[in-house]
Amino acid sequence: MSSSRQASRPLDVVIRNAVLATASDTTPCEIGIRDGIVAVLGTHLPRGRSEIDALGRIVTPGGVDGHCHIDQPMAPPVRLSDDFESGSRSAACGGTTTIIPFAAQRKGGSLREAVDDYHRRAAGRSCVDYGFHLIVSDPTPTVLRDELPEQIAQGLSSFKLYMTYDAVKLSDHQILKLLALARDHGATALVHAENTDCIAWMTENLASAGKIAPRYHALSRPLLVEREGTHRAIALSELVDVPILIVHVSGHEAVEQIRWARGKGLNIFAETCPQYLLLTAEDLGVDDSYTGARCVCSPPPRDRDSQEAIWHGLADGLFTIFSSDHSPFNLGGAHGKHPDGKEVPFPRIPNGVPGIETRLPLLYSEGVLGGRITLNKFVELTATNPAKLYGIHPRKGTIAVGSDADLVVWGTEPVLLGNHMLHHGADYTPYEGMGLKAWPVCTMLRGEVIWDGVTFTGRAGAGQFLRRGSSSMLGTRSAARPA
Ligand code: URP
Ligand code: ZN
Ligand code: ZN
Repeated sequence: MSSSRQASRPLDVVIRNAVLATASDTTPCEIGIRDGIVAVLGTHLPRGRSEIDALGRIVTPGGVDGHCHIDQPMAPPVRLSDDFESGSRSAACGGTTTIIPFAAQRKGGSLREAVDDYHRRAAGRSCVDYGFHLIVSDPTPTVLRDELPEQIAQGLSSFKLYMTYDAVKLSDHQILKLLALARDHGATALVHAENTDCIAWMTENLASAGKIAPRYHALSRPLLVEREGTHRAIALSELVDVPILIVHVSGHEAVEQIRWARGKGLNIFAETCPQYLLLTAEDLGVDDSYTGARCVCSPPPRDRDSQEAIWHGLADGLFTIFSSDHSPFNLGGAHGKHPDGKEVPFPRIPNGVPGIETRLPLLYSEGVLGGRITLNKFVELTATNPAKLYGIHPRKGTIAVGSDADLVVWGTEPVLLGNHMLHHGADYTPYEGMGLKAWPVCTMLRGEVIWDGVTFTGRAGAGQFLRRGSSSMLGTRSAARPA
């Protein structure tokens, strides 16, 4: 159809009385949507087939959660409590319209089998659009020569590398090879930066002294474990001359390493998550009770000084993205944190907390309405930058003519957070009882309302797989390297 015929067709949806917030601007605006795409932004738009009155509320781009674990295979009996249907429904009700979970290679297995299996898990189930990162745990010559380049070309343009966890950890030599591949193929490398031998030694010492309650998880991974891993990841990235993303940064010492690297002109990206703003090591327990198992994640939550350092990093541009690291396990039942009611030693408590639905409301409430970050920084961290970093911008992560009409309308009525309101498969939230100042009253995916503030109105299978290109943030060589 010619563009003039296109323009004369009525708009499917017009949103009136919106205050549109992007990563750069906040403007009163009307939004016209046709065929699931933002067709026009302006004032005095013609009547649409359907009309939504935003009542002067803030409208932001749908969130892009660049780090979440959904239906990722685990060693039995451990099992995540979200499949693609429950995880993506939960995302939608918290204002997230794009998710990028992980297709994880098994040691001894191929990338292809991991990706095929993950497509089967997502197909017909996701309620929001989705891409896949890879987890590379076994970089064999075939993986390095054929499989990984093939997957990058198929739109899995990012992969995570682990410095710890026996099932997935890599040596520095393996990491160097993978970083070189990321550089040569325009992929984004995510690094889980913790020193595995320090963790193993601390864990042995604690366990042999009978210190096995959940709170010792935090003591087994002191700040220096993350600081050393972060420093080493930066050095490896510098040697190969390729940008990396340090994921789930938790401690002020890791923050200092990233500031130092930036000061040297190195292209180091950084991610943090709600648990490092709002939880501390005390949430894992102040005595040997088992209740703290609910907050066991890695890296562990720290103290108030680290929380402050993370808030500053969000406000001043140190952090590139803000993700959930949603990694949901039940407290009850056979597969989670408290298997069949048994209290297991901390090294056997599955790591991770649920948070895909609460990510945006927590940052909006505590960050934007708490006066710590601007509304535009909120959009940048939660939508625009993850879309750019993972090669789906400007289709995702912004509200601009030609972008997918993925939108969130924000209500600012007080909310008392409780697990009963959430839509994930987990039987708890670490933020139970917290008072929030904001929650989405409408989430739209490609022009369709999928959450109206009360009811989930989306559909399993409506989410589309996103073949992602190279990051638009990778840039060229670091300023610190000679030409
Ligand atoms: O404890 C966490 N973060 N679990 C999820 C896996 C990971 O390393 O991100
Ligand atoms: Zn990790
Ligand atoms: Zn994770």
